[in-house]
Amino acid sequence: MAKRKISPARAISGPVELPGDKSISHRYAMLAALANGVSRIEHFSPAADCRSTLDCLKRLGAGVEQSGSTVKIKGAGLRGLRQSRRDLDAGNSGTTMRLLAGILAGQSFNSTITGDESLRRRPMRRIIDPLTQMGAEIRARDAGLAPLEIHGKKLRGIDYALPVPSAQVKSAVLLAGLFADGTTSVSESIRTRDHTELALEEFGVCIEHSGRARSVTGGADLKPRNLTVPGDLSSGVFFIAAALILPESNILLRNVGLNPTRTAVLDLLAGWGAPISFVSIREAAGELVGDTAVRHSSLEGGEIAGEMVAQVIDELPMLAALGPYTERGVEIRDARELRIKESDRIAVVAENLRRMGAEVEERPDGLRVGGRSAGRLHGAEIDPHGDHRIAMAFAIAALRAEGATTIRDADCAAVSFPGFFDCLERIVER
Ligand code: S3P
Repeated sequence: MAKRKISPARAISGPVELPGDKSISHRYAMLAALANGVSRIEHFSPAADCRSTLDCLKRLGAGVEQSGSTVKIKGAGLRGLRQSRRDLDAGNSGTTMRLLAGILAGQSFNSTITGDESLRRRPMRRIIDPLTQMGAEIRARDAGLAPLEIHGKKLRGIDYALPVPSAQVKSAVLLAGLFADGTTSVSESIRTRDHTELALEEFGVCIEHSGRARSVTGGADLKPRNLTVPGDLSSGVFFIAAALILPESNILLRNVGLNPTRTAVLDLLAGWGAPISFVSIREAAGELVGDTAVRHSSLEGGEIAGEMVAQVIDELPMLAALGPYTERGVEIRDARELRIKESDRIAVVAENLRRMGAEVEERPDGLRVGGRSAGRLHGAEIDPHGDHRIAMAFAIAALRAEGATTIRDADCAAVSFPGFFDCLERIVER
């Protein structure tokens, strides 16, 4: 429950090496556990969420050895996982619970997967429905909440149209498809991150593309791989935001993941006037990676709505907290999903922006944050409600506020970015 004090800063500068991407790390670890042989994953995310995935995979019989940011996984093969003697614990990680549920649905044993208080409040019906259609039997608490008791079954392929734009749901179904008879197809009307599809191909599984649908045929043999995880752009966005609001700032994010299903936040900020440039873009294991440079600039602000929301979903707390530093403010609509993340991010962002003196209007599906003309933010005591992205977003907003800010329970940043506050202190100038 450590508090962190953030004093205003003059600038942020220098090269930044980001931790490995959290979404990609989960996927590489899970697929390595299903491969025949030893995979080596470099620059694996240090996030507590990814630690939860590794712990679950260990309990299911995969060999996991970690040394610094290198993880070696001895896969059990597609049919080689075994029943865990204890309940699996996904901690705070929705990705661990939902993606693993897809894998567990196709096993010949039963599993129980649970999580922390926040995760036990998040909706699981969205994965229970398609996995049940595939033949799995899943018991949950009344409203479809974890713990989930997953009775693995012989699965059959389905054609599934995602009712909510969610990469976690898409991935759960595709992963279950590895164990199903026939072909499993998932179509999405709004594009979400495609790391699962790319990683499956990398591990030797054929993914068919047809319009907005992606299909996998059961029974593939996964090959072990040596892979390097790109830097996490969703973590990088905090430093990008700091560079934009602090005068004389200039940062270079090295080896950051630039998968087009993740970079909408950069397009959006560029549209608001942010000078963002890319150097040495390359491809690694199907993922784009490059260095990204950002300088200070005034920001126009604007609206975030419609299809764009799903593509910047994890960056919305930071984008909202940038509102008071923009000319026009920031308006977020069509973002109901934000209410069922690690916290109710609409309510928690609104509450903390108000604590800092911002003009905020909270709405059922978003919020409107007043721009520069509504006055300068002042330091305050921030309550992130245990949500890592809220703690980090407000630490950044605090850098340009008047007076010091305290972030309560700042350790929660470790869910995605252990060492965030130390890394920030190393690169800010006062
Ligand atoms: C993730 C997908 C998104 C995102 C989450 C990570 C993933 O969740 O918010 O942080 O790795 O697939 P949804 O699938 O619920 O949108």
